[in-house]
Amino acid sequence: MNLYFMKQITTTTFFFLAIALFSVITALPASSADKSTVKQIGSKAIEAKIAKMTLAEKIDFIGGYQQFNIRGYEHLGIPEIHIADGPVGIRNFGPSTAYPASIAIAASWDKSMAYKVGQAIAMEARAHNIHLMLGPGVNIYRLPITGRNFEYMGEDPYLAGELAKHYIQGMQGQRVMANTKHYVANNQEFDRNHTSSDMDERTLHEIYLPPYKASVDAGVATMMTGYNLVNGVHMSEHDHLNNKILKGDWGFSGFIVSDWVSTYDAIAAANGGLDLEMPSGAWMNQENLLPAIKSGQVKLATIDEKIRRILTTYDKFGYFSEANLKQNFTLDKNYVRHTALEAARGGMVLLKNANNVLPIKKDSIKRIAVIGPNADPVVSGGGGSSFTEPLHPKSLLTAVEEIAGQNIAVSHHAGIFTGSPMPKDIWQHSPFYIYDGDKKVKGVKAEFYLGKQLLGEKLLEKIYPQVILENEQLWADKAIPKTNFSVRFTSYFTPQESSYYSLAGQGDDGYRILLDDIEVISAWRDQGPTTAKKEIFMNAGQEYKVVTEYYQAGGGALIYQGIKKALLNAPPSEFKSAAITVAKKADLVILAVGFNPQTEGEAYDRSFELPYQQSQFIKDISAEHDNVIVVLNAGGNLDMKPWIDDINALIMAWYPGQEGNQAIAEIIFGETNPSGKLPASFEVNIEDNPSYHHYFDDDNDKAVFYGEGLFMGYRYWDTAKIKPRYAFGYGLSYTQFSFDKLTSNQQRYTADETVNINVTVKNTGELAGAEVIQVYVHDKKSRLVRPEKELKAFTKVWLEKGEQKTVTLSLNKAAFSYYDDESHQWLLEPGQFTILVGNASDNILLQEQIYIE
Ligand code: BGC
Repeated sequence: MNLYFMKQITTTTFFFLAIALFSVITALPASSADKSTVKQIGSKAIEAKIAKMTLAEKIDFIGGYQQFNIRGYEHLGIPEIHIADGPVGIRNFGPSTAYPASIAIAASWDKSMAYKVGQAIAMEARAHNIHLMLGPGVNIYRLPITGRNFEYMGEDPYLAGELAKHYIQGMQGQRVMANTKHYVANNQEFDRNHTSSDMDERTLHEIYLPPYKASVDAGVATMMTGYNLVNGVHMSEHDHLNNKILKGDWGFSGFIVSDWVSTYDAIAAANGGLDLEMPSGAWMNQENLLPAIKSGQVKLATIDEKIRRILTTYDKFGYFSEANLKQNFTLDKNYVRHTALEAARGGMVLLKNANNVLPIKKDSIKRIAVIGPNADPVVSGGGGSSFTEPLHPKSLLTAVEEIAGQNIAVSHHAGIFTGSPMPKDIWQHSPFYIYDGDKKVKGVKAEFYLGKQLLGEKLLEKIYPQVILENEQLWADKAIPKTNFSVRFTSYFTPQESSYYSLAGQGDDGYRILLDDIEVISAWRDQGPTTAKKEIFMNAGQEYKVVTEYYQAGGGALIYQGIKKALLNAPPSEFKSAAITVAKKADLVILAVGFNPQTEGEAYDRSFELPYQQSQFIKDISAEHDNVIVVLNAGGNLDMKPWIDDINALIMAWYPGQEGNQAIAEIIFGETNPSGKLPASFEVNIEDNPSYHHYFDDDNDKAVFYGEGLFMGYRYWDTAKIKPRYAFGYGLSYTQFSFDKLTSNQQRYTADETVNINVTVKNTGELAGAEVIQVYVHDKKSRLVRPEKELKAFTKVWLEKGEQKTVTLSLNKAAFSYYDDESHQWLLEPGQFTILVGNASDNILLQEQIYIE
């Protein structure tokens, strides 16, 4: 047996223990679940239901229906189950409380907050009679450009696992099933259905699996398989990871659900551990499974086991005695809204505060300019299936106006145009033409070259009707290799009316667009499909030359070019100068920039650079004003190099949900003391991140080998002794803390003893605040190479001015073990360990040596 998981508590026991424990430590509102309503019918009654099902009913049952339901069978007393998207709110029923993105919950480093958010979301789920919420998401953050980092909980498996555990317990305490997704190593969005995440066994066990294991320990009801493959096998049919590890070694007793349309084979999925295909039985249906059962390729017992898992899970949640979760339930709307606000406050990370410019003293200023595209309207979440339409949206502009009060004048200008969504038909619209002699003909001329630089002899010249080209369309001619080539597309465009036009491109890999020989869109780098758009004013009747240059460096090949009349109604330069004028008149500039649901979201990876020339915009504003505070929306790090030295303060707001702007305004004016800490390391250059060199499918073999292995995030930076811009665990406060008196209960331990350490933390500053005590373990000597340090315990402590507290943190055997890929188990090698305590991975304040026998 796996040593890490020595203590096997059955999932059911843990589930109810957890509810009991947390109902003591978390104040629940009156409408919380009453555990006495969980009445179970037991396994005999479940077996009787399975026995009464016809084979056709059985097969139909393991495929979802109507997109977000699991079939009910009234005649068998099996209720219909309703599902909705999380993880940051109820996505599928119109406006709903939008909570901070999961990365912001991770940034709070606050387990009780994760619990409360899970619980509050479940309360809203109950009000809609939803039984299964699709969250939490725990895929590990490898690289900032991954499109869905904001839906996950950062780079550290322990942090993500602990927070997921509490979120699940909060949610399931309401009799709403949670769903941990996307199992496992779905760490990129580009080509997510076809790319295999390949890695060695130790990396898989130490970095990517632990948050899922933690979810199982928390009694999670369901697990969602990712779109991706791992080591060459699709996750929805991964016998080893689903049957052997998840259901076998870990004892997961719930059911495995596929991601929406991520099943690729009926027999392989049925035998590979998938219990429920969503959103429908496109593969696991009667047509495919009846013959497979008849021929013995799939055993009937395998189908029965899936149904048993699903029904047994329903029973744990009491659905056979009462499936209507709305019954006797009143939603405390104020409570859930307040929870969203508290969570937003806790997750903000103050990254820079030169000369303590923040918090702003109200009597020190008269005029504030709130500038930038994200100042108004609200940017609450990233794009894709998690996007929750906020029930009470509040923009940063409004929040600042409200808190500033009547004596401070607040002005606003967006300054830059990012908001107009990409017109859906921008590619197909294609009014580009070329010349055939004097005659204009619809089309685009393409010139192909070997290598990425459009140099040397032309490989091929041809005409395409439009630039909407993918893989085979680009590779159609023998002369064109699958990789390492470049193309120049030339065409002309003449607008019929004078107006702003959106010029757009999408490329995998690099591309740039030139208008009359001037580069207007730049995305010249290795990447998955990435979209960029720019609004440009064009005169009626004038001919413009449009050139798109593109190169293919590996993996899928894709290039699109499009143009369409834009929604923008003022020239960008005037727009920007107007913002600068507004900024210049103010004593303080709050600049709200970043990504938004159109530029960061599911199904694509984003750029490291801020889109829409926002970096230049920050530079332009800060060139004219010396008191600029930047508020950033993003799911992770981005290129700060062009402007970080020009600004005074930087607040990492992530996607903070509907109450996020209130929390930001409170922080700016000192009504809330920031206490968030980075759940991921922020590098200076993306190329410095070791995962960058193992992220793209350069050789186009539909596989990415995680060559950095264990050494990603702070495990890399610390071991290589290189400093990122901001370290994992870093975040500023308006007060100061001292750490003192690190003691452990003894110096020598046996392997099974728990190591308890005590630390005294004191608030030595002038304001009340919270500090995160981070405990890392360093193994002095080990047979296998280990990272310099690994996070193994943490707690967040609230302290009044001058107050001090002594906290105890426990480290069990798992905290000192590593995964041994020879014996295929977690191993604790006896020897000396250093316990490192600090308030950031690069700021260790206390240490203590212990010996484990
Ligand atoms: C996403 C899942 C989501 C599902 C249902 C998929 O595209 O990957 O996270 O739960 O859709 O909306």
